[in-house]
Amino acid sequence: PKGVGILGIETYFPKTYVKQSDLEVFDKVGKGKYTIGLEQENMAFSNDREDIYSMCLTATHNLLDKYNISPKDIGRLEVGTETVLDKSKSIKSVLMQIFASGGNYNIEGIDTINACYGGTSALLNAISWIESSAWDGRYAMVVCGDIAVYAPGPARPTGGAAVVAMLIGRDAPLVFERGVRASHVENVYDFYKPNLDSEYPSVDGHLSINCYFRALDHCYNLYRNNFKQTYGETFSLDRTDYALFHSPFWKQVKKSYARMTYLDYLKDPTSARFSSVPHHLSQMETETSYTDKELNKVFSDLSSSSFQEKVESSSLLPKQLGNSYTASLYTGLTSLISNEREKLQDKRLLMFSYGSGMAATLFSVKVEKSVKDIVDRANVEERLSQRKSVSAEEYTQTLKERETFHSATNYTPTSSISELFPKTYFLEKIDGEKRRSYIRS
Ligand code: ACO
Repeated sequence: PKGVGILGIETYFPKTYVKQSDLEVFDKVGKGKYTIGLEQENMAFSNDREDIYSMCLTATHNLLDKYNISPKDIGRLEVGTETVLDKSKSIKSVLMQIFASGGNYNIEGIDTINACYGGTSALLNAISWIESSAWDGRYAMVVCGDIAVYAPGPARPTGGAAVVAMLIGRDAPLVFERGVRASHVENVYDFYKPNLDSEYPSVDGHLSINCYFRALDHCYNLYRNNFKQTYGETFSLDRTDYALFHSPFWKQVKKSYARMTYLDYLKDPTSARFSSVPHHLSQMETETSYTDKELNKVFSDLSSSSFQEKVESSSLLPKQLGNSYTASLYTGLTSLISNEREKLQDKRLLMFSYGSGMAATLFSVKVEKSVKDIVDRANVEERLSQRKSVSAEEYTQTLKERETFHSATNYTPTSSISELFPKTYFLEKIDGEKRRSYIRS
């Protein structure tokens, strides 16, 4: 089958956000720690009217509406998330209320969980289904997203919230390239959620950054080998038009692009483009190289104009929403197509997905048709401009309230529904058996 990939994208984010510059003052950290140190601008969050079920319901329903797709036309629905509410019960099953009202109960697929990676795994599953003998001619849908919240401390400004829903099928504008994709999966405890009564993870932030780079190294080396086998040519960053990354915070994306430039250097240190690189950097121990400041500076400087050209235009939503875990890479994709539009025609996008624990894949997408229609329906800039900034005090108080609401029984939310976009699902109540019900605004 030809042209299997993404036909449509809907990116949902809450209407409220907190400014990182306000949080710096409130948290009494040095000015610039979050805005310059992490390169984040704003962070999306939600109150007790929204949980992961409501946000996934909203994105799913909006995608069907915006693309005029009947619920009966979906044959597979995959969810990727790490925000778990009912443990054994999937988010997919909650989303079935939308399809049941259209008379469709015959939909394969279920939830996939591994930190920020579940969305990518869900996407790869959906693509495999369309390419397989089990395909029945209908579309697949992928819904990925999270509410990322951390306990007070250095990780808190790296939270965020969003859900991305994608329509998958043949003859798509965004087509998955064959024979190149590469994965790295390993058993590490860099970030996990052993405390099931809390929304907060246990996280070793600096270890998670090292793991991210290690996974990037392995995936990039494998991708290059696969590229050589498939096309008989050597791959370096020159061979891609854009590069997108899972973005826990934008500084990590910048460092990742510099790291890939370093990996290109290690493959070809005598190339003229690397003539200014001090020789000792080619001899550095891998573990040291992850955090070495000189190395990062040399390769950031060397790749800065290429970064502007190939990476910066995917920064809009990651910087405005924060880390949306499984949705993060796909908020980057939404940003890229919203910014570059027709310029993307026939271009290659290199995409890196990382989930702690850990699982990662580097893959690429070719733009084979116009993305104009996707951009128009996504309507990202207008919705961003309608958001409401909330003070750091109120944000902190809201997170405090979420701590009780997360595992509540017999609970009726009190937050106003006026702070929701139109056509947003919101929590009506949690009953005595912890069952949740929703209304669409
Ligand atoms: N002005 C400007 N820059 C500053 C300031 C300031 N006042 N203060 C600190 N900085 C810089 C630091 O120099 C550092 O920059 P560098 O990385 O270029 O050296 C940066 O800000 C971060 O400062 P640190 O002290 O290293 O940060 P801290 O230890 O407080 O926390 C961390 C950062 C580890 C990312 C934390 O937010 C965290 O644990 N987040 C969650 C885990 C995470 O996101 N991991 C990423 C991959 S896994 C995933 O997606 C969940």
